[in-house]
Amino acid sequence: VGTLWLVGMMGAGKSTVGPPAAAAVGVSFFDIDDAAAGGRAIPEIFAREGEAAFRAAEADQIAAHAGRIAVVACGGGAVLDARSVALMRASGTVVWLDADPEVLASRVGDGTGRPLLEGDPAGAIATIAAERHAAYRSAAHHRIDTGGLTPAQAAEQVARLWGRAHGSELVIGRDVLDAGVLPARTGRAAAGVLAQPGSARIARSLARRIGAAGVRAPVRILPDGEDAKDLAVAAEVYAWLVDEGLTRSDTIVGVGGGALTDVAGFVAATYLRGLEAVYVATTLVSAVDAALGGKTALNLEGKNLVGVFRHPARIVVDVAVLEALPEPLLREGAAEALKTGMVGDPDLVALYEAAGLDADVEEVVRRSTAVKQGIVARDPFDRGERNHLNYGHTVGHAVETASRIGHGDAVAVGMVAAGRASALVLGFAEEERQRSILDSLGLPTAARGSEAAVVRAQLARDKKRDAEGLRMVLLAAAGAPGVHHVDSATVDAALAAVGIT
Ligand SMILES: NC(=O)c1ccc[n+]([C@@H]2O[C@H](COP(=O)([O-])OP(=O)(O)OC[C@H]3O[C@@H](n4cnc5c(N)ncnc54)[C@H](O)[C@@H]3O)[C@@H](O)[C@H]2O)c1
Ligand SMILES: [Zn+2]
Repeated sequence: VGTLWLVGMMGAGKSTVGPPAAAAVGVSFFDIDDAAAGGRAIPEIFAREGEAAFRAAEADQIAAHAGRIAVVACGGGAVLDARSVALMRASGTVVWLDADPEVLASRVGDGTGRPLLEGDPAGAIATIAAERHAAYRSAAHHRIDTGGLTPAQAAEQVARLWGRAHGSELVIGRDVLDAGVLPARTGRAAAGVLAQPGSARIARSLARRIGAAGVRAPVRILPDGEDAKDLAVAAEVYAWLVDEGLTRSDTIVGVGGGALTDVAGFVAATYLRGLEAVYVATTLVSAVDAALGGKTALNLEGKNLVGVFRHPARIVVDVAVLEALPEPLLREGAAEALKTGMVGDPDLVALYEAAGLDADVEEVVRRSTAVKQGIVARDPFDRGERNHLNYGHTVGHAVETASRIGHGDAVAVGMVAAGRASALVLGFAEEERQRSILDSLGLPTAARGSEAAVVRAQLARDKKRDAEGLRMVLLAAAGAPGVHHVDSATVDAALAAVGIT
C-alpha cells in the first residue's frame, strides 16, 4: 500500500495536484523531478549528460522513495523504465493523471524548461502521448482524466484513492448523502443500515435513497450511545442480518456517532468473516475521530475491550448534518478536533482560536481528518506515532471515570493538565493560549467534582504506564508532540492545574 505514485505526461498536473492531495491526507509530497535534478535544472542534465543519464538518476530516486508513506510525482518518462514501474507497483498505488494532448499543450505553454518539447510543443506532446499511452496504461492502477477538473477536484480524487489504499475512501461535503453512499460495484443486493436514535431519521431517508437505486436497504435502530457497544446487541444484529438474508456481497451501512460506527464496524468485520462496511458519521466526534482509523469496539466491564482493526470501504461526512448538531455535540467534537490540531495542525488551532464554535465545520473536518489519516497511514496498528492522538487523554480518561462528565469535556480537562506538564517538561509556551481556546469553546478547564483519590487510582492503571512510570503525550509546541515519562512532581502539578490537589 505504501506510496502513492503520480505518473503522467508533462502538463497532466502532477506537481500541481500532488501537494494539495498529500496535504489532504496528512502526508508529505515529493517531486522526483526536483530530486533527480540534484540541484540542477533538468534541461541542464539533459544538455550535459544526455537523456540516458537523466533516466538513470530518475530511476535511482524512484528506488529511494519506494515505500515511503507519501505522495510522489514522477517525471513523464518514468513509466518507460521497467524496473521503476515494477518498483512503483510493488511499493504502492500508481495513479495516472491524464488529459487530451490539446489540454496538456495548453498547460505547458511554450515548453520552456522541457527539453523534449523544444520547437513545437503541441506537436511533440501529441507524439509523445501516443508513444507512451500503452506504458502509462500498464503501469497505472488508476487513471484520472484531469481534463475537465480543477486542480482541487483532481487532488480530491487522488486523496480518495489514497484513502482506498490506506484505509477508507473519505467523502466530505455538503449534502453528499444525496449522491448515495455506496461505492459503485456489481453484485450487491442489499445494504443493512444500522443507526442509533439520534441518527434514525437520517438513516431512514438514506435507506429510501439506496432502495430507490435498486438495493434493498432494511434499517435497524440500535440502543443509544454506549448501550449499543455490547456483545448482546451485536448478537441481535447478527440474527437480524441472517433474517434479512445479507450475504458477503452485501454491505453494512453504519449511520451515527462513534458508538454506532464502533459496533457497526465490529459486526461488519465479523459477520460471515467480514463484509463491506460504509460509515456515515453524523456527530463531530465520529467525523473527526471515531470513524477514521479502522478501530472497531465493543465494551465488556471495561470500555473497548473487544474489537478488531478493520477499515470501512468508505466514510461519508455530510457537513450539513454536522452544522445542525446541538451545541453539546459540537462542543465535544471540538475538544477532539482541537486536540488533533494541537498534535498535528497549528492552523486548525488558529481556526478555533479565531472563531470558537463558529469555526467552519467543513474546514475543521478536512483538517482533522488529514492529521489523523496521515498518522494512521504511518502507524496503522497503534504501535507508535498514533499514540500522539492520545494527547489530553491520560488525565482525561481518569477524570472521565472519576466524575462521569462527557468524554469531550474530560479531554478538554486532560489537555489543560497535559499543557501544564508540557510546559514543565518541554517548555511548551502555549499553555495559556490553549486554556483560553478551550474556554471560548465552552469546554471545561477544571475537574470540578472529581475525587483526587479516584483520579490518581485511574492514573496508576493507565495503559501507557511502563516499568519506569507514567508516560504522557506532551507538546514542545502545537504540532510537535512526543511521548515522555513524567515524574510524580510533574503529575502533581498537572493535576493541580485542573484543580485536583
Ligand atoms: N473507533 C475509534 O477509533 C474511536 C475513537 C474515538 C471515539 N470512539 C467511540 O466513539 C464514541 C463517542 O462518539 P460520539 O460522541 O459520536 O457518541 P455516540 O455515538 O454515542 O453519539 C452521541 C449522541 O449523539 C446522537 N446523535 C448521533 N447523530 C446525531 C445527529 N446528527 N443529531 C443529533 N444527535 C445525534 C446519538 O444518538 C447519541 O445520543 C465512544 O463510544 C467512543 O469509544 C471510537
Ligand atoms: Zn477521545
